[in-house]
Amino acid sequence: MGIALGAVFWMLEAAVHVFVFHDVGFFVQVFSPKPHEVWMRLTIVAMFIGFGIYSQWIVTARWRAQRAAIRANTELTQIFDTAADAMRVVDRDYNMLRVNETFSALSGIAKEDAVGKKCHEVFWGPLCHTKDCPLNRILGNADCVECDSEKVRKDGVKTPCIVTATPFRGPDGELIGIVEDFKDISERKKSEQELMQSHERLRDLASHLQVVREEERALIAREIHDELGQALTALKMDIHWLRHRLPGEKQSLIDKTHVMSKLIDRTVQSVRRIYSELRPGLLDDFGLSAAIEWEAGEFSKRTDIECEILSDPKDMILPQGLSTAIFLIFQETLTNITRHANATQVRIILTKNADRLEMRVSDNGKGIKDQEILEPKSFGIIGMRERVHYLGGSLSISGNSNGTTVEVIIPMDPKGDVDDKDTHRG
Ligand SMILES: Nc1ncnc2c1ncn2[C@@H]1O[C@H](COP(=O)(O)OP(=O)(O)O)[C@@H](O)[C@H]1O
Ligand SMILES: [Mg+2]
Repeated sequence: MGIALGAVFWMLEAAVHVFVFHDVGFFVQVFSPKPHEVWMRLTIVAMFIGFGIYSQWIVTARWRAQRAAIRANTELTQIFDTAADAMRVVDRDYNMLRVNETFSALSGIAKEDAVGKKCHEVFWGPLCHTKDCPLNRILGNADCVECDSEKVRKDGVKTPCIVTATPFRGPDGELIGIVEDFKDISERKKSEQELMQSHERLRDLASHLQVVREEERALIAREIHDELGQALTALKMDIHWLRHRLPGEKQSLIDKTHVMSKLIDRTVQSVRRIYSELRPGLLDDFGLSAAIEWEAGEFSKRTDIECEILSDPKDMILPQGLSTAIFLIFQETLTNITRHANATQVRIILTKNADRLEMRVSDNGKGIKDQEILEPKSFGIIGMRERVHYLGGSLSISGNSNGTTVEVIIPMDPKGDVDDKDTHRG
């Protein structure tokens, strides 16, 4: 362009010269002008060329910038339109400036119909018209707002969403409005609900299995007590009868009846022990404190581990279901101490007031570790937890190098719900 302008100027100047001075012909002026004219023309032609190059450079740079801007805009529009999350741009006056395809699908309004409408008319939620509305918070200088909200479409369909709002600024940094992003979490919520329901069903199943197991234990205990106990008593009486009818010279036979009698005595003891382990009669007859004292005494005899019991009040009258559940939890903690703790002392605190029943069993053993408490295969602990959960209480287990503490807290429900759950028999 500069070169063309220079050439045109060269010829124009030659023509003007010929026209004004009539001294030489046009072609001579064009192709062999005088030196001072050559200088003048060359200077001006160079200026033209310089100007041409400069303007060409500006035009090209501008063209490139325009193309880059168009490309960036196309890319952003594409990203905005094809985003998996629903998005809308809202100005300071709650007018929607732009929405994407996903927003249109989620809110049930066509893109072109949405633009220009108020945001709270199209996809509203509990925060609309409150100070906690994301736009209001961004206008109040928040950098970014994220919240869970249930958004409602015009046709009333509700969608739980995670809403993220960020400021939408103009080229000079002025706040024009917000960009709102809605992540549809209805599937997640549904799965969470299903998971919770399945969890509840599993808990119910676990409770039911406990009930069945404890009923079976009670049945076996009764059978052992009634059937075996009676049979052994009858056997003992028969041996007694036999011994008195044996002739005096049959000393070896008489001795044999003594041995048999002793064996029956030992079996009776074993039957009593099995019976009490299956269903401690003390629990029914004398209450929780006495049963715990007895169990702790037996535990100390068996293991040589010292047991200290503090019970307040001394005699606790509790619903049968509750006392059985606590007793079984207590038995499990003692079993765990025997098997895992390597302890020499156990301290049991049992307290009850109008609001709650509390049992704390601490040992001075090696201490349970966090991962052992959470281990999915810790069925003893899971069983304790389930029992406590069934009674509406809480169980906490902690351990350190000084030992392990298991604490059970059961609220004493004024409605007497606990009474109804007397299916936990041990
Ligand atoms: N009193 C305790 N002291 C130290 N570790 C314990 C104690 N009680 C439980 N544990 C640890 O917690 C784990 C889980 O206990 P539990 O659920 O009763 O299962 P199990 O007794 O069948 O191993 C045990 O294997 C043991 O490692
Ligand atoms: Mg155990």
